This record gives sequence, structure tokens and C-alpha cells, in this order.
Amino acid sequence: MCGIIGYAGRHQAAEVLLDGLSTLEYRGYDSAGIAVAGPDGVPSLHKRTGKLANLKTSLNGSMPEGSLGIGHTRWATHGGPTDRNAHPHTDCSNEVIVVHNGIVENYQALKKELVAKGHVFTSQTDSECIPHMIEDGLACDLTLEDAIAAVAPSIRGASAVVAFSTRDPGKIVGLRLGNAGGIVVGRNDDGVFLSSDLPALLPHTRSVSYLNAGEMVVLSNDEVTFASVDGSPIDKRATHVSYDAQSAAKGEHEYFMHKEIHEQPDAMVNALGGRISLDDLSVNLTELNLSDDLIQTIDRVVFLGMGTSLHAAMLGRHWMETLARIPSEYDNSSEFRYRSPVLDPRTLVVSVCQSGETVDTLAAMELARDLGSPQITLCNYPGTQTTRIADHTIPIRAGLEIGVAASKTFTSSLIALLLISLEFGVRRGVIDVERRRNIVSEIARLPDTLGRMLTDEGIYEHIAQKYGDRSDFLFLGRGVGFPLAMEGALKLKEISYIHAEGYPAGEMKHGPISLIDEEMPVVAIAPMDSLWDKMQSNISEVQARGGNIIAVASEGDTQIAGIADDVITIPTSSEVTNPLLLSLPMQLIAYHIGVRRGCDIDQPRNLAKTVTVE
Ligand code: G6P
Repeated sequence: MCGIIGYAGRHQAAEVLLDGLSTLEYRGYDSAGIAVAGPDGVPSLHKRTGKLANLKTSLNGSMPEGSLGIGHTRWATHGGPTDRNAHPHTDCSNEVIVVHNGIVENYQALKKELVAKGHVFTSQTDSECIPHMIEDGLACDLTLEDAIAAVAPSIRGASAVVAFSTRDPGKIVGLRLGNAGGIVVGRNDDGVFLSSDLPALLPHTRSVSYLNAGEMVVLSNDEVTFASVDGSPIDKRATHVSYDAQSAAKGEHEYFMHKEIHEQPDAMVNALGGRISLDDLSVNLTELNLSDDLIQTIDRVVFLGMGTSLHAAMLGRHWMETLARIPSEYDNSSEFRYRSPVLDPRTLVVSVCQSGETVDTLAAMELARDLGSPQITLCNYPGTQTTRIADHTIPIRAGLEIGVAASKTFTSSLIALLLISLEFGVRRGVIDVERRRNIVSEIARLPDTLGRMLTDEGIYEHIAQKYGDRSDFLFLGRGVGFPLAMEGALKLKEISYIHAEGYPAGEMKHGPISLIDEEMPVVAIAPMDSLWDKMQSNISEVQARGGNIIAVASEGDTQIAGIADDVITIPTSSEVTNPLLLSLPMQLIAYHIGVRRGCDIDQPRNLAKTVTVE
């Protein structure tokens, strides 16, 4: 949450900062601000409530001059979204300029101490403590990096801090504390850069380094130096990222989310590349380096995630049980981390975290590590924090996802979870050669099938027109349909602001049925699988109470056409691969309803793509 950018180089910093912030806005858009070290040594500070466009308008073409600066786009935690609370924040004399991502949990105590010493605060944020504390360090003649390192032990909670100062000019210092707020660093012939996330760096370089918790970076005079917060130097290797700036552009699509939905067939191909063989229809996850001992001794698997990744985790549980016959469960990382879970070395923890940064998932993984459980993590960005905690990482290879509501990272995570379950099933001897061959050949057909499903979105436009003004939706599913129902409801809430619930269809009679009337659209996920007839009964129950049924059914299902008001069809597939196809209608229903309601599809209110605070 919150986007940070820093630049020192040969170009005018303001332009670089504003361009960078425009690629980071998905991380937060309550306010935006930049600060540039002016040629006369005086910092020039500009910040505005609302989206970046407001800041650009306020600058009105007159950009601050200077070749070193920092910028921020905010997702408000402490202090409302006002101009004053916008970052950057400064000390009393405007000599220390700071942008911050995360929460200073003990800010009230720190602020009290600082105020008692005579510091004057101008905002309601927790972040403003930081420049004031740095100011005290600089007053004792510390360098900027030493002053920031000195402040670090006082800050409780996870944070990323980036600062420059006229007291120690010509450098930008970045600090990462705890799990919140990654900082990625890059350089090219024009200068040195840091940012919260890759998209801001991609136009400049694809060779990047990530800060770990407790590490600092100093950018100055084309130099990048890393050190731990205790001052010891760190020799950090750069990682080459395969994404390019083009992948961070919308192309012909009106919204990033639409582009990313349409990228799913390609993303699937990437996720499968080298991991299945079409020659002998086998799975090959040697990259995970799972020993036979691990595969055989595991007697339980716990899948973890948040948001859409939790719904992927739910399907992971389903596949691990059905394909590998290992007792499995799933949990929300934020609940798991605080409820004293029972874990041991025979429990495998599989976390789904496309960003590699979600703070609750990081904490849950650390807990699992401390309790001795082996871990696999799914991640879209190599080198991020989750990948350092887990014993094994499977990159989901979805490519950049900018839309705040996850789409392609969901399906790419599903592919990885399916392959992992298959790997366990095959190596534990649960899946015989014929079954393996059938499943792999079905998986190999998925990108093509999904591509065909994307050629016509007419049914979704029709549904959006018919039901787009409703205030509540119910999504029902059984078996693999239940996590998809949860995901469909989440997507609709996120991008159309319609209240929606996802329920197991069997649970409907225990409460939600009382909500059903002629105003309630019910999305019934009813593919031709082993639970098809059970779903038919539930659909009839909805029909009997006047609800509007939008069925998501297999092609050729004539029975459902007779009872549903609208039918979205998916090509016939097996129960194993159905979820990969069912995810698409969940995304497109929400997308088209959101568009029809005029919603901000890529940047829904109050949300952020990467949740780095609890
Ligand atoms: C936020 C995003 C969701 C995402 C979730 C988990 O809520 O808006 O799209 O599913 O975080 O993200 P992760 O990076 O852990 O997969």
C-alpha cells in the first residue's frame, strides 16, 4: 500500500517522479506528492488530495527544477485523505523530506515525546514522526543514513522510509523495516532509482535489487550502496526481470483489468512452460526441488492466502485432497497467524501471495517457519520477501498485473496449485499413468479453451444491462464451485460496489434463502460435475422463490436452460480443470457490471493492490 519513488540523476526529477507515480497509483490513490531538491538547495514540495491528476493539474506545467527527488501516492491509514496528510512530510525547518509506506504503530508515544521536545506537527499522520526524529539525528551531526538508521529501532511496525535532506545533500536514503513496503532499486546511465514496485522502474531498467527487512540503500552520484541497518555493508546481486514497460501499458483495452483478463491464455502458457511435457503428458516441477523424503513424509497440507489468493488456496486444498489424497486445509493468513496453529515438520504450508508482500501472509509464513514446517510459496515477482521465507518458490509467471482486482494472477496461481497437487499425487503413487496423462492433456488444452471463451463478451454485457442496477447479488456453488462463488462475489464487491455474498449452495437453506426475492440475482455455478444434480435442486429452490438465476453451466446442458433466466456456458471440462474455466465468468460478470455502473475499474475506492499493513 502506498507507492514510493525516488530518483537522482541527469534528468529533471519531477518528470521522472510523476511518470513513476502514474505507474504506482494502483497501490493507493488518496493523495499524491513530490519533493525535489532545488538547485539553490531549497526543497520544492507539492502535494494534493485525490489522484495524481490533481497534483499534475496543480503544478499547471510549472515543474519544480532539480535532479533529485522523491514522490508518494497514498493509501490513507492514519489521518484522512487531505492535502496536509499527503506525503512527503517534513521536519520543523523543511530540511528533512520523507515519504513512508506502512504504519508507525507507536506513533502516539513518539509524537508525544517529539512535541515535548518542541517539534511542531502539521498533519494527523503517523508518518510525520519520522522526519522529526531524523531531524534530531542530523542536529547531532549524523549523516542522513546514520540518522535514519538511528531512528529505526524506535519505529514499531513494518515500514518503508525514503528520505533526502538539505543538511546532507545529494543523496536519497531508503530503509525497509519488517515486512511491509518493499523497496526495489535500479540504475541506468541516466541515474539511480528506487520504488515500491517494479512498474515505476521498468521504463528505466530491468535489472533490479530488492531491499530485505532491516536493510538500507543510499542513492547518490550514480552510486547505489546497500547496508544493513546496523551499518554493515551488503553486496547485493541484481535480479533481471523479464517484464518490460510495454506490459505496463493498457494497449487497446479501456482498463488494465480487461487487458489482464484477456492475457490469461498467454499467462497460462507461461505458467505451464517447462512444467508439463506434451511428449509423455507428464508433470515436471524439478525447479521446486522437492525431495522424495518431503513428498513422502508430509501428512498434512495447509494452504494460506488473503483476498483472491485465499480463494486460490481453497482450490489448492481441493486439488491436494482429490489428487494426492493428503489431508488438507486452507486458512486466511490474518486469522492463522494469531490463532496458535498446530504445525510441525510433517505439515507442508503452501502460501499463495502473488505480490510477495502481503503483510499477513508474510507473518503467517514466518510463524510456520518458526514452527518447523516446510513451505512452498507461489509468487509473481522473483526476489520478493515471501520467496526468502519459503523453502521452495514456484513463480506463477502471470506478468505484471496493474488492475487492483486480481484476474490473471488468480488463474496463474490456480495452474501452479494444480501442478503441485499433481506432482504430489504422481510421486506418492496416488495417480496412475493413465490418469496423469488425461489430466495433463486437459491442462494443456486450457489456454486454447480460455482463448475461445474470450472471443465474445455479449452475454456479460447483456447481464450487466439487465442486473447492473441491483443492490445485492448471491453467488452459489458446490465443490470447486464454492471458492469460485466466493471469488465471483469478491470481484463484484470490489469493482462494482454491489453487495454480494458467496455461499456453498448447500448452506443456502440455513439463512441466505430468506433474502431471495424477485430483486435478487443469484449466480449459480453449476458445471456438469459430480454435484450437478445437487446444484439443479438448489437452483430450483431459488426459482421457486422468484430469484433471478444467472447460471454458469457446461455447454450442452439443456436442463439448465429451462430453469435459468440467463445462462453463461463454459466448454465441457473435467472437475479437475473446471475451476480454471469458471474463473473467467466470475471476472467478466463483475467487470461488465462495474463498467456499466461507471466505476473506477482499475482503482476501486478504498482498495489497494498490495496490502502491506494489517
Ligand atoms: C489485495 C488485492 C487483491 C489480492 C490480495 C492478496 O486485496 O486487492 O487483488 O488478491 O491483496 O494479494 P497477494 O499479493 O497476497 O496475492
